[in-house]
Amino acid sequence: MKTISICFVCLGNICRSPTAEGVMRHQVREAKLDGRIAIDSAGTGTWHIGDAPDERAQRAAAKRGYDLSALRGRQIAVPDFERFDLLIAMDDANLAALRQICPPEQRDKLRLLMEFVPEIDHRWAGEREVPDPYFGDAAGFEQVLDQCEAACRGLLAALHPQLAP
Ligand code: 4NP
Repeated sequence: MKTISICFVCLGNICRSPTAEGVMRHQVREAKLDGRIAIDSAGTGTWHIGDAPDERAQRAAAKRGYDLSALRGRQIAVPDFERFDLLIAMDDANLAALRQICPPEQRDKLRLLMEFVPEIDHRWAGEREVPDPYFGDAAGFEQVLDQCEAACRGLLAALHPQLAP
C-alpha cells in the first residue's frame, strides 16, 4: 500500500502549521485514509520548540472540532527533506527558509499551502500566503482556519489519485 507523508511548515510551529496539521488530520480521517497519509508540522524558527500550540489557535480550532492540544513545536531539520514527500509552507518567507537548507535533489518537494486551494473556491483567488496571526486579533486565527480548510480539501483531492493501488 502506498503512503504519502506531509509536513506543514510555518515560522513558530504554534499557530498556522499546527492548525493545518489538525485540519488535514481531520479531513484524512473523514476520508478514511488514516494510515495512508502521514501528517506532521514544524517551524523554521527556534522560539517555540516543545511548546503547545498558541491558546488562541487551540481555542479557534476547538470551536470547529479540531483538537490541537497534543501537538508540540519543533524546528524543521535537514533529515525532514528526505523523510517527507511534501513540505508545505504557509508563506513565501517560510518557503525561502526551507529552500536555503533543502538539499537540491529534494527541492521539488517544497510547496505553498495556498497552491492547493481548488480553483472553484474563489474566496482565496490570487492569495499566495496564509498570514501570520501571532501579533493580530482573533479574526486572524479564523482566517487561518478558513484558508487551511479550503487548501487541505484541495490537497486531499490532489493526493487521492496518487494513493490508488
Ligand atoms: P506561526 O506564528 O508561524 O504561525 O506559528 C508565529 C508564532 C510565533 C512567532 C511568530 C509567528 N514568534 O515570533 O514568536
